[in-house]
Amino acid sequence: MNLSAAKKALEAGQLVAIPTETVYGLAANALNEEAVLEIFRVKNRPAFDPLIVHVASWEQARSLTQGVAPEVLAQAERLAKAHWPGPLTLLLQKSPEIPDLVTSGLPRVALRVPAHPLTLELLQMLDFPLAAPSANPFGYISPTRTEHVQRQLGDRIAGILDGGACRVGVESTILGFEQGRPVIYRKGGLSVEVIETLIGPVEVRAQSSSKPATPGMLKSHYAPRTPLVLGDLRELAQKYSGQRAGVLAFRQMLPGLPESRQRLLSPKGDLAEAAQRLFAAMHELDAMGLDVILAELLPEEGLGRAVNDRLRRASV
Ligand code: TXA
Ligand code: MG
Repeated sequence: MNLSAAKKALEAGQLVAIPTETVYGLAANALNEEAVLEIFRVKNRPAFDPLIVHVASWEQARSLTQGVAPEVLAQAERLAKAHWPGPLTLLLQKSPEIPDLVTSGLPRVALRVPAHPLTLELLQMLDFPLAAPSANPFGYISPTRTEHVQRQLGDRIAGILDGGACRVGVESTILGFEQGRPVIYRKGGLSVEVIETLIGPVEVRAQSSSKPATPGMLKSHYAPRTPLVLGDLRELAQKYSGQRAGVLAFRQMLPGLPESRQRLLSPKGDLAEAAQRLFAAMHELDAMGLDVILAELLPEEGLGRAVNDRLRRASV
């Protein structure tokens, strides 16, 4: 659908899939509880998993917060001014205007300005913010192309604003503050290193847990239906030699297995390119009806950390 159709549908309280630089979002008017409820229904998402609110600017984001401590506001503003629009979500004390349903009753609201020209234009046309989780059924791989959304949710939403393939490919980095100090709750499209250059050392608390602060931290998340195992590819190939295996490799194909069942994330070893291709490769391998997907980790730096986090959560 085009921009004006998307605007109309959203104003009528319907759901529209929107492109962002990270992944496609499943959007509704964040201030309309009925519309937000429909997001939870369509995604089959538990009510304890809050939604990210997308806005057009730092000023609009600020207007949806209340009582944020001055030292927190200063750090948040520095990050926003440097990296918005971009793959960074900030958790800040919410104003009463944001329904509790959006934040699952939590005191903070997750806010971000997405860096996609179409969605930015849409946000500027609307007089309300957009609540939007990733546009996939709960727990499944996030969509980075319209066909992923179409296949998974197409018949349950008003339409898709077609913005092509997502440029970053992994979800936004989620950052909040505790006692005035920054904490990363989900590793994502903006690397820890880049954030630290701006505001100094940041605690990274994005590991698996049975009682996660945010469900993006759940151990099993972003998972394909085919079992995915992580390790040294050659060793895994031997171990699973009796099975129909696919391969998700970083730079090089695994000799001895058909190339049609292998996906390379970045032959030149570029971590950002690997992040961009990750979910599409997982979707493709998952559609092949394989017994198992063999995968390897990337170097634990830059966007490699976000990719590794998704691979670990996708693995059995
Ligand atoms: O890149 C992204 O962030 C994408 C695009 C569409 O913007 N969105 C996305 O949304 O990944 P979702 O719902 O799949 O993941 C949002 C994560 C969840 O783990 C949720 O628990 C956490 O953000 N979150 C949202 N609001 C929160 C809040 N108020 N307090 C704590 N965590 C929150
Ligand atoms: Mg998600």
